[in-house]
Amino acid sequence: MKILIVYDTKHGSTEQICKWIAEFINNKVDIRRTGEADNLEKYDLIIVGSPIYMERPLSSVTKFLKSHRDVLQRKKVVLFVVGLATFKFTASRYLRIMKNALGFEPIMVRMLPGKWRFINHMDRTKVENFVKEIMKRI
Ligand SMILES: Cc1cc2nc3c(=O)[nH]c(=O)nc-3n(C[C@H](O)[C@H](O)[C@H](O)COP(=O)(O)O)c2cc1C
Repeated sequence: MKILIVYDTKHGSTEQICKWIAEFINNKVDIRRTGEADNLEKYDLIIVGSPIYMERPLSSVTKFLKSHRDVLQRKKVVLFVVGLATFKFTASRYLRIMKNALGFEPIMVRMLPGKWRFINHMDRTKVENFVKEIMKRI
């Protein structure tokens, strides 16, 4: 199974999470920023992540989802967002924006805790559990 992780970031925490995801998948995984992701056809599973700024995922990521919808529709897709909000309903709101951009139901979605300066909620164990759940569904 060929796996691609696509993300964007402003301050690096989403990139760090992508590296952890790749590490826990324990298989060859390609990681690309939205602007550099191409050749999507060759992958079976595509995991797409964005940090949340001012209640929204980055437009580079939602644009990526919209503009590659045709190819993504033929793949297994997992979406995640990274942020500091902790309420479940807030997480669902952010994830809904990602799902709407994708335009169809992904196999899984998740919000993962991020960091901002001295507030660091990054959690490797949560990322590990996320990956375990993805692996059960593919
Ligand atoms: C200006 C600003 C606005 C933010 N707005 C939100 C927000 O609306 N909701 C949220 O959950 N987190 C918010 N955050 C937290 C970021 O999502 C968090 O710092 C994330 O880890 C940043 O990802 P990055 O390092 O990949 O850019 C905000 C952070 C900053 C600096």
